[in-house]
Amino acid sequence: MTYAAITGWGACMPPAVLTNDDLSTFLDTSDEWITSRTGMSERRVSHVSAIEMSTIASKRALACAGLDAADVDLVIYGGVSNDELCPNSASGVQLALGATRAAAIDLNTACTSFCYGLATATAMIRTGMIRNAVVIGVELISRYMDWSNRNVAVLFGDGAAAVVLQASERAEGVIGSVIGCDAEARQTLRVRGFGCGYAGQGITFGDTIWDFDGQVIFKRAVKAMSEASTRVLAEHGVAAEEVSLVIPHQANLRIIESVAKHAGIPMEKVIVTVQKYGNMSAATVPVALVEALEAGRVSPGSWVLMPAFGGGLTYCSLLVKWGERVTPLGTSDAALPPCEKTALEMVNAIRAGQDPHGRSREGLMAPRFVEERLAG
Ligand code: UT7
Repeated sequence: MTYAAITGWGACMPPAVLTNDDLSTFLDTSDEWITSRTGMSERRVSHVSAIEMSTIASKRALACAGLDAADVDLVIYGGVSNDELCPNSASGVQLALGATRAAAIDLNTACTSFCYGLATATAMIRTGMIRNAVVIGVELISRYMDWSNRNVAVLFGDGAAAVVLQASERAEGVIGSVIGCDAEARQTLRVRGFGCGYAGQGITFGDTIWDFDGQVIFKRAVKAMSEASTRVLAEHGVAAEEVSLVIPHQANLRIIESVAKHAGIPMEKVIVTVQKYGNMSAATVPVALVEALEAGRVSPGSWVLMPAFGGGLTYCSLLVKWGERVTPLGTSDAALPPCEKTALEMVNAIRAGQDPHGRSREGLMAPRFVEERLAG
């Protein structure tokens, strides 16, 4: 039997920090409201493209696995935020990595995109279709956030992380998965302004309107993640007490606490990053996984549970058996260019209809494409 071991991991967090107090400079909100309702204190704003963050995270993950980019069969780019829709973003990462043999898939199930991608790549490895994959969770929400809407503007952040999966004869990696979609409630989380449905309406990129029924999403998220977790554990005969670590989607501290309670798992076993990164949608689970590994919180041979939910309303819970190795085989010197602006300066530029570096949209023919960046 073939399994899909997680052999590499790497994150790429943009350095610019947007605090709750920064948000209160242009929104009718407060540190007290945001902290008490969500658990969030800070989030990051990226000065680079989503493909750039993904490429650095992937290079770090490949170095960690000791795998050459030329041996990668598949890149899955999980997330809602794309530099362009055609060509897709996974092809940009494939090019930047030099993973010339790899197939390239963009996968968008909103906040669950990384976990759905992990389940998909695992299935492809387990059936013998491929042997090595890079799975990315990434978001660049700052560029299309409706910064005038306090209901959503305080919740989200940018970031990226990636894992490497490799075929293995040992029973490790994603052992069980429950993935599903509560589509009846799909209208509760909608970003208006993206996509063909808005063609011909004179909408400028970034001018979005968010439909966001927070309380409905909250209740459905707790129910879906709790039920998916109970089911995946039962299907594989694993008791809640046997789970060493829960790495949940980070949308709200209160949601995380409710899911842990329903699953009968104490908060000491739950990784929480929401206070410092906010909700990075598809990036939350892989970034939290990388931080858990770096903090020595993942034990060899342990059971790890990854519940998530997002727009759609998609949901999932993955049951992962960690392998023997919890330390990297190598490191990469890939790094982001320095960020010259503060997060608040970049957000204010975006609010003024400019790109984060303060250049007006009219003056920009196009984003700097990955081909141009590679050519220097
Ligand atoms: O990854 C998937 C994404 N979705 C989610 O994770 C959303 C899940 N939902 C939630 O996390 C919570 O429902 C929220 C954090 C979004 C909201 O918390 P809540 O406790 O459900 O607050 P609420 O929506 O009931 O709003 C309470 C009050 C309202 O005022 P009134 O009508 O009571 O006067 C809001 O207008 O808080 C007001 N409010 C704010 N006040 C200050 C809403 N946003 C803010 C804000 N600052 N940023």
